[in-house]
Amino acid sequence: MQQPHTQQIQTQQPIGIGLAGLGNVGAGVFKHLQSKRTLLRERLGLDLEVRKVAVRDRVRRAAEGFPEAILTERWQDLVEDPEVRIVVEVMGRKEESLALILESIARKKIVVTANKALLAEYGREIFEAATLHGVPVFYEAAVGGGIPIIKALREALVGNHIVSIHGIINGTSNYILTRMQEAGLSFPQALEEAQALGYAEPDPAADVNGWDAAHKAIILASLAYGFWIPADKIYVEGIESLTASDFRFARELGYGIKLLGIIKAASDTQGAAIEVRVHPTLVPEKHVLASVNGVFNAVAVKGNVVGDTLFYGRGAGQDPTSSAILSDIAEAAEALQYPRRNLGFMPHGLYGSCKPLDEILSEYFLQLCVEDRPGVIAQVAGILGELNVGISSIFQPEAEAEGATVPLVMMIHTASHAQMRMALDRIGALECVRKTPRMIRVEHFS
Ligand SMILES: NC(=O)c1ccc[n+]([C@@H]2O[C@H](COP(=O)([O-])OP(=O)(O)OC[C@H]3O[C@@H](n4cnc5c(N)ncnc54)[C@H](OP(=O)(O)O)[C@@H]3O)[C@@H](O)[C@H]2O)c1
Repeated sequence: MQQPHTQQIQTQQPIGIGLAGLGNVGAGVFKHLQSKRTLLRERLGLDLEVRKVAVRDRVRRAAEGFPEAILTERWQDLVEDPEVRIVVEVMGRKEESLALILESIARKKIVVTANKALLAEYGREIFEAATLHGVPVFYEAAVGGGIPIIKALREALVGNHIVSIHGIINGTSNYILTRMQEAGLSFPQALEEAQALGYAEPDPAADVNGWDAAHKAIILASLAYGFWIPADKIYVEGIESLTASDFRFARELGYGIKLLGIIKAASDTQGAAIEVRVHPTLVPEKHVLASVNGVFNAVAVKGNVVGDTLFYGRGAGQDPTSSAILSDIAEAAEALQYPRRNLGFMPHGLYGSCKPLDEILSEYFLQLCVEDRPGVIAQVAGILGELNVGISSIFQPEAEAEGATVPLVMMIHTASHAQMRMALDRIGALECVRKTPRMIRVEHFS
C-alpha cells in the first residue's frame, strides 16, 4: 500500500528552480540536483526541477551538453517566470546579483545565494527587503563551503548566547600557512604552489589580504548577534607579510600560525559590544584549530549553554558548496509549503555595536631586529613597562644573529590595541631597533 506522502508527491507539481550562474558552483548544483532528485523527493516529499538557467553564453553552454531549452542569457527570465519559485544566485557578481536577489524577493521567490561578498556588503538591505515581502533568503554556502555552520548558528544553537567564534574560514590562506609552517616555504613560494595546484586564484588578493575571510566573519557575527555589521567596523589583516622566521620562532614557543576570524561578545546584556576581527594569529600547537591544515576549514563556536563546539570540513570546491546549496534549496522548498517567521536572519536589538579596535584586548608575539649589545632589552622593556604592558616571556635566538643585529622575540600579556600601538611606535623609533617591529596576536581560547 502506498504511504500518504508518496501519493502527495505523485499529485504535486514539481517546484521550479531558477539557477543563475553555471560556473564552478552552478554546474555542481545543476549536476547534483539531477543526480539527487529522487533522493530529495523521497526525503522531502517534494519534487525539485531546474526550470531555467541563466548563463552568459547560451551557445557555448549548450555545446557543453547543458539542455538548451532551459538556458537563457537574461537572468530576468528567472524572475519573470511564475513557475520559478526558488532562485539560486551563484553568479558571484555585485550589481547584477543584488538586482536579481532584490527582484526575486519582490516577486516572492525564495532566494538561495552563496555570495558572501554581496551579503557582507548588502546583507542589511537584502534582509530588509526579505522582511518587507516575507520571503526567506538562505546562504549556507556563503561561509565554510560544505560545513553547515549557518544552520548551526541559526537553529541548533538558537538557545545560546554566542560567547565566541574562532574560524579558519579561508582554505587558500590556510593551505599557504600550512606549507609555510610545515615546509618552511616563504609566502611567495607557498602562494605559487597553491596557484599551481588550483587552490589559489590567479588573482589571490581577497584570499591573502583577509577580506574573503572577513566577509564570512561579518556574516557569522551578524547572524550570531542579530544586526548587520558594517565592514568598516571590523579589523582585517592578511597573511602577505608573514615570514619564515615568524613560523620558526612561534614554533619554538609552542605555537602555529593561522588566519583566524575571531568574533566575541563578552556578555548578552542589552547593548553589549562585540568584536570582529580577522588576522594571523598564534594558536597553541595543542589546540584543535592548530591541526586544521591544508584547504580545510573549521569553526569553533562557544555558546553559554552548549559550551565548546567544533565544525570541520571542506570550505570550498564544487561538491561541498553544492551540498550546502542543496540543503538551502530543500529548506526553501519546505518554506514554500509551510510559511515561516525566520527568514534566514532574525534582526534583534540585544547586542549593540562593534568594539573600537583600540579597545580590543589580546596577547601578542613581538619580533624585533635589534643591535646585539647590552642594554637593548632594558630599553624595550622600559617602554613596555611605562605603558603598563607586561612581558610573559622573552628570548634572543643568537643562532639567527646577522652581523651586528639579532632577533628579539617576546610574548606579551593581555594589552589593548591602543597600548600596543603606542608601544610599537616608541620601540620602532629606538636607535637600537633596526627594522619595523613585527606583531602577531596570540589566542588562548579562554
Ligand atoms: N567556488 C567555490 O568553492 C565557492 C565556495 C563558496 C561560495 N562561492 C560563491 O559562489 C559564487 C559563484 O562562485 P563560482 O566559483 O561558481 O564562480 P564562477 O566559476 O566564476 O561562476 C560564476 C558564473 O556566473 C556566470 N555569470 C556571471 N555573470 C552572469 C550573468 N550576468 N548572467 C548569467 N551568468 C553570469 C559566469 O559566466 P561566464 O562563465 O560566462 O563567466 C560564471 O559561469 C560566488 O559568489 C562565490 O563567492 C564559491
